[in-house]
Amino acid sequence: MNKYLKQYEWSNVGAMIKNDKKDPLICNDSFLNKLVVISGTTSGIGYYTAKAYASHGANLLIINRNEEKTKIQCEELSKNYNVKCDYIITDYTHLSQVIELGEKLNNLKEDIDVLIHNAGVYMTTRTFTDDGLEKVFQVNYLSSFILNYMLKDKLAAQEKARIIFVNSEGHRFAIAGLRLNDLDWKKHHYSGLKGYGSAKTAQLLSMITFTKFYEGTNVSINAMHPGNVSTNMGENNGKLYRFFKHRIVSPSSRSPEVSAQALYYLGVSKELDNVNGRFFNLTTEEIPAPHALDEEMAWKLWDKSIELGRV
Ligand SMILES: NC(=O)c1ccc[n+]([C@@H]2O[C@H](COP(=O)([O-])OP(=O)(O)OC[C@H]3O[C@@H](n4cnc5c(N)ncnc54)[C@H](OP(=O)(O)O)[C@@H]3O)[C@@H](O)[C@H]2O)c1
Repeated sequence: MNKYLKQYEWSNVGAMIKNDKKDPLICNDSFLNKLVVISGTTSGIGYYTAKAYASHGANLLIINRNEEKTKIQCEELSKNYNVKCDYIITDYTHLSQVIELGEKLNNLKEDIDVLIHNAGVYMTTRTFTDDGLEKVFQVNYLSSFILNYMLKDKLAAQEKARIIFVNSEGHRFAIAGLRLNDLDWKKHHYSGLKGYGSAKTAQLLSMITFTKFYEGTNVSINAMHPGNVSTNMGENNGKLYRFFKHRIVSPSSRSPEVSAQALYYLGVSKELDNVNGRFFNLTTEEIPAPHALDEEMAWKLWDKSIELGRV
């Protein structure tokens, strides 16, 4: 039997089901003139999160791959909320672009008060990027690793910074844990749930090591599940998947505005001062699955990510 199954606390799964129905805690504190960097704001959770921060006075730096949509969004946000909105176009399927983004963020004169890693993708079939990496792993995990790693000195020098991973309860689907020796799924059968679960698991494992890495600084790093919300996630897949999504999953989905409220709370509320390395279902703390808590694996992944990310 796989070692993680023996460690499973089934009550944590029960808690997840219960927490899924809860509303997030609300924070209405101002975030005037603070800077928030968010990836993946052209739709869904990122779109409403950018709005939530702007409506509380924050300036935005949004990171997207679609320039046309991004430009319109930035203009709307700055006009509607009287805030500054800048953008950097980056496609997370290209490592060189992510490294370039890291350099640009590092060169910012302003502090980054909140950094939200939100961009993500779901693929039902195994797909590779031009860098030769499995796409979901690269977009959902490795890019956020590279950016956090590159921004270490800048963030540590600030009075304070919060990093938030938009993660997922879907990490629980990687029941066998992260297979570091088969990240390209050549030895094991790939499925959408397993690929997605592995990438989200990798991100949770990186939270363990980043929490240690940033020790002694004022940088906190937490992860959250944004709820089951209706967005464009998975729409890039085939008819069968979309049928399942629209008929089975979507009827019980909530609005991504709920996720945005939670992301505002986690980024701004004073209740989160000194809270570090935790996983939240919206704003309720939960214990991740055992395979996402394996510290030995987390350090192995650390070394592998530095090698793959060329940082
Ligand atoms: N929806 C849910 O129920 C749910 C549940 C758990 C976790 N999540 C997580 O929530 C996050 C946001 O997803 P969402 O549900 O809001 O989905 P979404 O509407 O599809 O938004 C995803 C965002 O990521 C961007 N993105 C995708 N591939 C990219 C790439 N290669 N480079 C740069 N940006 C890229 C998309 O840009 P384009 O517009 O250009 O495609 C979009 O802005 C993801 O990390 C997802 O895993 C969602």
